[in-house]
Amino acid sequence: MSVSERVKKGMEVGSWIRRMFEEGIAMKKKFGPKNVYDLSLGNPVMEPPPEFKREIKRLADHPFKGMHGYMENAGYPETRAAVGAQLSKETGLKITEKDVIMAVGAAGAINVALKTILDPGDEVIVFIPWFVDYFNYIENHDGVVKPLPTDENFMPRLDVLEANIGPRTKALLIDSPNNPTGVLYSAELLKKIGEILRKKEAEYGTEIFIVSDEPYKKILYDGLEYPSPLNFHRHSIVCTSHSKDLSIAGERIGYIALHPDCTHHDDMIKGMVFCTRVLGFINAPAFLQNVVTRIQDVTIPVSEYRRNRDFIYNNLVRMGYTVNKPQGAFYIFPKCPIEDDVAFVHDLQNEHHVLTVPGVAFGIHGYFRLVYCVEHELLEKCMPGLEQMAKKHGLMK
Ligand SMILES: Cc1ncc(COP(=O)(O)O)c(C=O)c1O
Repeated sequence: MSVSERVKKGMEVGSWIRRMFEEGIAMKKKFGPKNVYDLSLGNPVMEPPPEFKREIKRLADHPFKGMHGYMENAGYPETRAAVGAQLSKETGLKITEKDVIMAVGAAGAINVALKTILDPGDEVIVFIPWFVDYFNYIENHDGVVKPLPTDENFMPRLDVLEANIGPRTKALLIDSPNNPTGVLYSAELLKKIGEILRKKEAEYGTEIFIVSDEPYKKILYDGLEYPSPLNFHRHSIVCTSHSKDLSIAGERIGYIALHPDCTHHDDMIKGMVFCTRVLGFINAPAFLQNVVTRIQDVTIPVSEYRRNRDFIYNNLVRMGYTVNKPQGAFYIFPKCPIEDDVAFVHDLQNEHHVLTVPGVAFGIHGYFRLVYCVEHELLEKCMPGLEQMAKKHGLMK
């Protein structure tokens, strides 16, 4: 077939989630959708907040001329200014429309950022477990993926990080709060990471960026606040979206924010605007830019996700699974009772109709991921299957 070797390899990397998804569809056809319990996909069921609908209505009732046409590739200045104002509030830095480029979701933002900074052979460090498409995003732009192990709580190991930064290291791509583990990187950790990067920048005479993928930054529990890498490293590029905080993943609206004091700031912005164009995005969706301009401080009610988090975490612990309590996002990543995560996930699926994703999809064996951005009743229906599996493998009597 004419599919390139590079794409074939990329498809193989992401194939676990796709395979689970396809098997899930087949099972739903065979047993009926109500009898298959799908915790495999991070597609939030929550409706967008009323303010989102209010803004759609306002724009539909009061359209302005040219509203559906092209604008400058970076996006509407008013939207970028609104994003900058919100980020200024969150970080205490002065961030303006000059630092912001609207993007086609966080995924589009990451691709624009990576294309802008990577020359062929430049290395991008990621921590395991990682978001499955990072591998492909880095390869899209001829970068070399450098996956690094984390500690038993999925936190970056600073000694390992420092030892693995070399003259070709261009970026560290992080994802906090994390998919799949739910861990949040603390301010102390980010401070130390920033120090290591600056030490290495001085040693090699390079710039090493933190590319911060943060679509879950507003989905935090237990009173935690989001520490932004912008406060700890001036070579930071925020790549994010409203996919999850407004529950509008299909609408593909996000943004890039560059630290205002970044070296070669204006050239970096011009580069990212150019990449937005030549990657074929041209600009982020016009209508959605206008919709999100006035609701930068709005977020879906996190309490519903917290209720699901508490429910699934408490039940998994009761059943004897070893699992970290997620601090944010809407994923949980327990240890499998057996080493073979693929076999475990298949059994859970075939014997109990509960769909999850094996750890290998995130670069690590021995774990499995469940999502809890679903109806609470669906979570309840998954518990007997998880309990049976815990009994089968001796976690509980
Ligand atoms: C860690 C992470 N990064 C990026 C994305 C893509 O986000 P978006 O829909 O905004 O492109 C996702 C989506 O699930 C994600 O989990």
